[in-house]
Amino acid sequence: MTDPHEDAWLAGRPDIVAAARILAGGGLVAFPTETVYGLGANARDDKAVARIFEAKGRPRFNPLIVHLPDAGAVAACAVLDARARRLAEAFWPGPLTMVLPRRPDSGLGLLVSAGLDTVGVRVPAHPLARALLRAAALPVAAPSANLSGTVSPTTAAHVREGLGSRVDWILEGGPCQVGLESTIVDLTTAQPVLLRPGAITREALAQALGEPVLHADAGDENAPRSPGRLLRHYAPTTPVRLNATEARPGEVLLGFGPVDGATLNLSPAGDLVEAAANLFAMLRALDHEGARGIAVSPVPAHGLGEALNDRLRRAAHS
Ligand code: TXA
Ligand code: MG
Repeated sequence: MTDPHEDAWLAGRPDIVAAARILAGGGLVAFPTETVYGLGANARDDKAVARIFEAKGRPRFNPLIVHLPDAGAVAACAVLDARARRLAEAFWPGPLTMVLPRRPDSGLGLLVSAGLDTVGVRVPAHPLARALLRAAALPVAAPSANLSGTVSPTTAAHVREGLGSRVDWILEGGPCQVGLESTIVDLTTAQPVLLRPGAITREALAQALGEPVLHADAGDENAPRSPGRLLRHYAPTTPVRLNATEARPGEVLLGFGPVDGATLNLSPAGDLVEAAANLFAMLRALDHEGARGIAVSPVPAHGLGEALNDRLRRAAHS
């Protein structure tokens, strides 16, 4: 499907084609949406997604939102039930993210979902974002294009100030209209749950659905509102032992760097981006070995190592 408005963007903007090529090649592209500027990478490529976390300096792997050009493209990645279809019709394209079950054949990497069986999906309304998504013809993972712990960028200049050369391309698209991240609603539960408030209100969602939408913190007034705290993160059922120098009898060894006897190795070369890209898939694979335990080599604490160690510690304590 083509839209004359987007075709005009494409015709006048050869930079969109260049940006789409960078995405396809595993690079990072900052692009405007109607909410905030996003830092995009190919959501099928775990290594490209790992570079997002590296560029933002995020201390942990939280799941990212996958951006798609239309509901049809969303349906190839996620399972849309009747409720999801209703919200898609009412609010897409627009500042609404839905958390839905991942399709087994989605082709998405595991890192974008932080190892979960669900995925956050959104169809942005900004014509430049839509043109980029069509030109790239890829699902694009994108958190806000700022350093972790700083305010979200609503102009290309903000992105340049914060991320500079950490991003391969910045698409200039003027100031963002909404200026606030998208509303996030979780539809993987019996009753819809609002995970993050945004321009599309809880009342508007409830009206479109014809049923109430719960607060994420329903039933507990003191519960933290941050959606990240509410996530059931993937954790192996096999016990995990950290900072291991070798496997004990019955254990499998998840190596990092040049270690001998690793069952799997996050990165034999000691590359943190490669290790982040492999983390969830390798934890899952080793969990299925039926071993007594998963021993994990030490991972350095700097850069992306902070997020890797955060996730490994959670796996070890569950
Ligand atoms: O407006 C926006 O949504 C912007 C623009 C760039 O589209 N993007 C954005 O992404 O705000 P980010 O990475 O800051 O928001 C991701 C949040 C996670 O922290 C989590 O709360 C929620 O979305 N999320 C994503 N996938 C999820 C999942 N599978 N389950 C639960 N929550 C999820
Ligand atoms: Mg953000």
